[in-house]
Amino acid sequence: MTNNSEKKLFFIATYGCQMNEEDSEKLSGILKKIGYDRTDIKEDADLIIFNTCCVRENAELKVYGNIGALKSLKKKKHELIIAVCGCMMQQKGMAEKLIKKFPFVDIIFGTHNSYKFPEYLSTVKQNRTSLIEIQDTEDGIIEGIPIDRKSDVKAFVTIMYGCNNFCTYCVVPYVRGRERSREPQNIEKEIKNLISKGYKEITLLGQNVNSYGKGLEPKITFADLLRRINKIEGLERIRFMTSHPKDLTKDVIDAVNECDKVCEHIHLPVQSGSTKILKKMNRRYTREQYLKLVHDIKQTIPKVSITTDIIVGFPGETDEDFEDTLSLAKEIEYDSAFTFLYSKREGTPAKEMKDHIPEDVKHQRFEKLVKVINESCSKKNAEYENKTEEVLVEGFSKNDITKLTGRTRTGKLVNFVGNSEHIGKLVDVKIIKARSFSLEGKEL
Ligand code: 5AD
Ligand code: SF4
Repeated sequence: MTNNSEKKLFFIATYGCQMNEEDSEKLSGILKKIGYDRTDIKEDADLIIFNTCCVRENAELKVYGNIGALKSLKKKKHELIIAVCGCMMQQKGMAEKLIKKFPFVDIIFGTHNSYKFPEYLSTVKQNRTSLIEIQDTEDGIIEGIPIDRKSDVKAFVTIMYGCNNFCTYCVVPYVRGRERSREPQNIEKEIKNLISKGYKEITLLGQNVNSYGKGLEPKITFADLLRRINKIEGLERIRFMTSHPKDLTKDVIDAVNECDKVCEHIHLPVQSGSTKILKKMNRRYTREQYLKLVHDIKQTIPKVSITTDIIVGFPGETDEDFEDTLSLAKEIEYDSAFTFLYSKREGTPAKEMKDHIPEDVKHQRFEKLVKVINESCSKKNAEYENKTEEVLVEGFSKNDITKLTGRTRTGKLVNFVGNSEHIGKLVDVKIIKARSFSLEGKEL
């Protein structure tokens, strides 16, 4: 199929985390500004962009497969432009490797220079040669980039970029650069603008939001920022992610409790329940400190939901270390968790460590852990049965278009029958049935 309309169309595929999602929304905003329209049909597009992730190997393999599959489309449609960007491209030697493997790719750029994309696009259109532009360092914080958001109800707002933590398994600090915080007034301005467009919920984004504010004058902490944003009129809900356990202070926990708009949900990646492994991961907290932190959170914030990330099979993880992770997960009873098989990443210290765990052992441990997580997730969901919950309605459910879908303040997915006028509104819903990963509700 070809696109006969005046406007050029772009298709964008996003891999990885919320940060990448937000970067794609920015690329999309920039492209709409210069006259492109978005399409969900790859074959119709004049421009195809892959915004890549390199946190784990399987994300990279997926990208290779999907770019490879475009070879025949590019043959049929010479004028098609293919661009690849994001974290994976930021890795040493990756751009060169990719262009060698897929010479039909037109533009490659990294995480620090996506705002220059229109410039790259016009250069490639004029010269019809491939262009690779990867910057090693960031150009400070670029404000004012248009953002074409996926949802009309909830929005992500980045409050800080990069990460200084250098967990030994993680590639993020190498591809996203050092921590830098946005000025609070710019964050407020963006949120007020979102409210004027009808948005009800914002999620403050950063690799480690609890260290927000370092280097800013006048001084401001993440707890201060939460309190400040909580005062913005018209905003209904505030969420934030991700919290690093070493930096989540009592002040932040108190702010979550005091601020009426801040939702009762904390995503607190633990990564491992073994102090020995946490040390090897350079996480800078012990099992006991983490347990105490969760205890304090539960004591201070009634009804709070706690979610986490856990890595299974980190180098040197013994059966006992893994048992520590299982027992920690059982003790905490997470509302949900993202579980990952440890994946070797080029340039990270963990890749060079001894005693890598055989794949079959990793998989066996992974399955055991998933079972424990699913049990606590079901148990936590069951606690909602027969209770009334405030749900922010996001739209119709993808799996059952007769139902509306939204989330509780604690982040639980709720599906219920209701009319489309509820979309974008807070609705009281009675939970009639808890499922493993969602709740079934009835409008009151
Ligand atoms: N292998 C497996 N999981 C990883 N994560 C980060 N790096 C790796 C890796 N090399 C996970 C962590 C992090 C989440 C976003 O991805 O759990 O919190
Ligand atoms: Fe990676 Fe650790 Fe930074 Fe999270 S805190 S992005 S896991 S280095």
